[in-house]
Amino acid sequence: MIRIAAVGDVHMDVDVVGRYRPALERLPEQADVLLLAGDLTRRGTPAEIDVVIRELQDVRVPILAVLGNHDHESGQPEKVNDALRARGVHLLDEAPFELNEHVGFAGVKGYMGGFGRYTLTAFGEQDTKTFVGTTLDEVQKLEYSLRRLSTPVRVVLLHYAPIMDTVMGEPEQIFPFLGNDRLLEPIDRFKAAVVFHGHAHHGTFRGQTPGGVPVFNVSMLRVREDAGAELFYVHEIPLPQEGAERETEPDVDTPAESERMAARSGSA
Ligand SMILES: [Fe+2]
Ligand SMILES: [Fe+2]
Repeated sequence: MIRIAAVGDVHMDVDVVGRYRPALERLPEQADVLLLAGDLTRRGTPAEIDVVIRELQDVRVPILAVLGNHDHESGQPEKVNDALRARGVHLLDEAPFELNEHVGFAGVKGYMGGFGRYTLTAFGEQDTKTFVGTTLDEVQKLEYSLRRLSTPVRVVLLHYAPIMDTVMGEPEQIFPFLGNDRLLEPIDRFKAAVVFHGHAHHGTFRGQTPGGVPVFNVSMLRVREDAGAELFYVHEIPLPQEGAERETEPDVDTPAESERMAARSGSA
């Protein structure tokens, strides 16, 4: 059994110094790894990221993170990344992470654009194409990261939602700004064991992909109100039995989503 603690949208600032440390100090009794699903800060300022680092200082398990849009607000996400890296936090946007021979993690921030037949397409103005291109880059990065994992169990961490189910509860008008389901393709094709994301504070805690992969919206508010947890949701995954790996092997012979999207964009 592997125990994964996950939370996003903690939105720390100087007014919360010391608030989360007791729960984080106890975390290793409950989990083997901590996932941070972005929006660690309110505006990504140096003072806020200092608070994050201080709150995390007693966590004695590996910490894996992706940034959120709020961590970009001050225009210096690299400084946020530098501080996290210096603390020993593994940034999944840079490389996947294998906890052991069984379980690996891939993650990207993701981006917005909407869901289903209403997803924004790369048509018209250059600004629109650039916007959609940002999402497609994230899809490609996630696919590449999943491809690099050699573990039979693959866990995905995002900030933006990859399905509409877990944004339900937010105003319908902002659904397109809460995520994009283009991220589903690599998640389902690589048969991820579970997906965690944040960003939709008032969304729904649990959903699943069309391929049956469980998806958890671990925004701190959802974790507290829906999972009844103090700070983080703990998800347990049974480790594969001997000889069961075949079932979780990804379907890597199908063309890469990026290649198919490149082919499609010719007619967009
Ligand atoms: Fe947030
Ligand atoms: Fe966010």
